[in-house]
Amino acid sequence: MDALPLSAAIAVLQQHKDQQRWSLRDLFASNSDRAQSFSAEAAGLYLDYSKNLLNADTLQNLLDYTDTANLKSSIEALFAGANINNTEHRPALHTALRFQGEPKTEHEQAVADCRVQMSQFVEQVHSGAWTGFSGKRIRHVVNIGIGGSDLGPRMVWEALRPWHKQDLTTHFVANIDGADLSDTLASLPADETLFIVASKSFSTLETRQNALSARQWVLDAGCSESDLEKHFVAVSSNIVAAQDFGIAAQNIFPMWDWVGGRYSLWSAIGLPIALACGFDAYSDLLKGANAMDTHFAEAEFSQNLPVLMALIHFWYRQCWGAGSLAVLPYAQRLAKFPAWLQQLDMESLGKSVTRDGQPLPYPSGAVIWGAEGSNGQHSFHQLLHQGTDMIPADFVAIKEPTSELKEQHQWLLSCCLSQSQALLRGKSLAEARRELEASGHTHKEVHQLAPHKVVPGNRPSNTLIVEKLDPFHLGSLLALYEHKVFTFGCLLDINPFDQWGVELGKVLGNGVHAAIDGEVPEDWDGSTALLLKKLLK
Ligand code: F6P
Repeated sequence: MDALPLSAAIAVLQQHKDQQRWSLRDLFASNSDRAQSFSAEAAGLYLDYSKNLLNADTLQNLLDYTDTANLKSSIEALFAGANINNTEHRPALHTALRFQGEPKTEHEQAVADCRVQMSQFVEQVHSGAWTGFSGKRIRHVVNIGIGGSDLGPRMVWEALRPWHKQDLTTHFVANIDGADLSDTLASLPADETLFIVASKSFSTLETRQNALSARQWVLDAGCSESDLEKHFVAVSSNIVAAQDFGIAAQNIFPMWDWVGGRYSLWSAIGLPIALACGFDAYSDLLKGANAMDTHFAEAEFSQNLPVLMALIHFWYRQCWGAGSLAVLPYAQRLAKFPAWLQQLDMESLGKSVTRDGQPLPYPSGAVIWGAEGSNGQHSFHQLLHQGTDMIPADFVAIKEPTSELKEQHQWLLSCCLSQSQALLRGKSLAEARRELEASGHTHKEVHQLAPHKVVPGNRPSNTLIVEKLDPFHLGSLLALYEHKVFTFGCLLDINPFDQWGVELGKVLGNGVHAAIDGEVPEDWDGSTALLLKKLLK
């Protein structure tokens, strides 16, 4: 795809935006069916996108844009396993990780074999057949990984708390800051602890250092070198490096170069999920994601949840100058969802060139941020309501209560709905004045206070209703966002599957570390050299 036709098509969208006055209040007032018309449903998820600054023509223009961007053929290429990661010459086949039925391709066969290996391992740990160096069964699992080898399983593990096995605790260590590992290990008995070293490359600094320290911790607790294999398994595509580290060949679960790190929770990177929640729950997670895959591949774009969400976000990013998107899951157990989504979205869409390497003539992906509701209401929502920037928001609401405290669930959902309502409605100056007058303020006070009470409103949001926070629906929700991000990448004509920018930091990190005991290279900037001296020399 040449970026020029895309730029021209974006200019058409911009013109459409500039030609009218957009008022959410008016859009609703003029169409009593708006909420019905601007909604779609699939795989246990309901999307209400009626609280967006768009009309039927906008939607049509955006759908036309998908033709210009060749979205349909890109989706086909994704599922067919074409080398759509064009800078690394690989397919991106995370959809194969959640295939259902009989394996039909080489990739699916590899996944099926891996699932057998995983379920047998889970059974061994759960039954107590897998023991540590003292002969006691494993009661604690520590996943050592970072980025995609951490965020996905950690988030799912927290979301599926009611599925947790009672006699097994699970922990996640990611940070190179030793406090992460040492705080985690402080209360764990080494002879009952199993480490999963999760690293696609098996070369990531944080994971290697944490794994080395963990290894030493087990040895210090009295484990012999030969018994280490009872305490360490790995998930990696770099079998040689994992073996060099000392992990027994039969304890290595495969990863493949056709799975991107941020799309890997469906692979054996999901092992902590299967251990904590059981293999059935892990399988249901895959089923939910697969249901969303089928929807994404087959549904008309006008009814296609990931496509609609990508188009709406694209509209704000390109035509409204929206630099960020707030993601607000109204569920305590989805507290890690924004962090997971940050990697997925920002590592994928943070690019400055097109697939052909031409400078991107329009904005790339946006900043993704957010936190669980209702907590966010008492911190950053003020900026959403009265700040000068328009920040679109995705609200995620869970229909079925997530605890026994049903009344609190009703309050939780009321909070969620009232926030998007407030963003839509706002409060005009006239309304603010009337309110102040009614509460007995003097004319002078009304004049002084009213501007502070004005809430601009007209601020857009999506609301996603998830039937239940169970493995199936969670799988569907996560796959929805994966496909939304992929679609956004296609609309931008970028490669959403590489992350070369991250590599630069890794290389320079090694240089800084080498300079602690060595010479500071002459071409360093003065700031870094001085800071190194103050901190580490
Ligand atoms: O931060 C870059 C990155 O490559 C991510 O894409 C990846 O999820 C993470 O590092 C961890 O990589 P690995 O699984 O190879 O340790």
